[in-house]
Amino acid sequence: MNKNIISLENINVSFDGEQILNNLSLDIRDKEFVTLLGPSGCGKTTTLRLIGGFLQPDGGNIRFEGNIINGIPPFKRNVNTVFQRYALFPHLNVFENIAFGLKVKKFPDREIQSRVAEMLELVNLRGFEKRSIDRLSGGQQQRIAIARALVNEPKVLLLDEPLGALDLKLRKEMQTELKRIQQSLEITFIYVTHDQEEALTMSDTVVVMNNGDIQQIGSPVDIYNEPKNAFVADFIGESNILNGMMVKDLLVEISGHQFECVDTGFGTNKPVDVVIRPEDIKLVNPDEAKLSGVVQSVTFKGVHYEMLIEAYDHDWLVHSTKAAETGSTVGITFDPYDIHIMNKM
Ligand SMILES: Nc1ncnc2c1ncn2[C@@H]1O[C@H](COP(=O)(O)OP(=O)(O)O)[C@@H](O)[C@H]1O
Ligand SMILES: [Mg+2]
Repeated sequence: MNKNIISLENINVSFDGEQILNNLSLDIRDKEFVTLLGPSGCGKTTTLRLIGGFLQPDGGNIRFEGNIINGIPPFKRNVNTVFQRYALFPHLNVFENIAFGLKVKKFPDREIQSRVAEMLELVNLRGFEKRSIDRLSGGQQQRIAIARALVNEPKVLLLDEPLGALDLKLRKEMQTELKRIQQSLEITFIYVTHDQEEALTMSDTVVVMNNGDIQQIGSPVDIYNEPKNAFVADFIGESNILNGMMVKDLLVEISGHQFECVDTGFGTNKPVDVVIRPEDIKLVNPDEAKLSGVVQSVTFKGVHYEMLIEAYDHDWLVHSTKAAETGSTVGITFDPYDIHIMNKM
């Protein structure tokens, strides 16, 4: 496991008397692709601005390779940022845009030439040096913004929703590109998005945030399969979240029926949140299941059908490759290990 390159320690930030980050602590390891994921307004950009040096915390420390860097200005940090709006210089061509930072630092022309060429190669835009910015597509502009940030050879690249303005197909392509670039350069990427699918496909580690708090840190698989609370479960994927009662270890009551599960340590007769993924539910004959309900809707989604089943006090979301009939009564079943028990928030 690599050592920490960036650590946030008990960071507090408030704006206009409102607490935005609450005692936030986070370690980011060298060469990792880390994604801050959470709904709009949860504090993702604020966290990036702290790391980039564009904002100072009210309390707490920011460390880079172990050393406190509070108060060190952005250009003296070994960190570069790609913003949501690329902010390329419209009156400069591609070469001049990428070379800008190196010229300011008075690099020799020869080195600037070779570094810019290398960067254009990296982002698959070889030969674009003389193009003007307004003759580039959105995707190409984004690549130039990435090249411009990487030409400074930062150890850490911060990316704030960099693909937000691109259409879906291009966004998918760029996700793969960015991952390839990160792996080939072997540097740390700290990526911000509110798009859970993007976070799960690209990251080594996902940090799920809500209201200025970290909800869970883990690999995409861990976050998806073992969400720590109902917020994470809901945000990470469409889920059925039910009120349940933990009767005792390995036994949970849902909608008046008891089900075996694999969870322990929640106490006895304790109210809990129960999460069951739509793809983990099997529809069977009503007489083969404890729970049954009436099919409200069936929608074809390309790979699976999405169905809503009304049963007792809950509309169950179900994904299946087989469609049930709207209006019919079906039995709802799931396996013990597909029941996820969570403490109520
Ligand atoms: N400069 C600022 N002044 C006042 N409030 C701010 C400022 N920047 C961010 N905020 C507030 O802080 C909260 C978190 O913002 P932000 O970090 O941009 O969220 P995210 O990037 O997750 O959408 C929001 O409620 C936002 O309105
Ligand atoms: Mg933001």
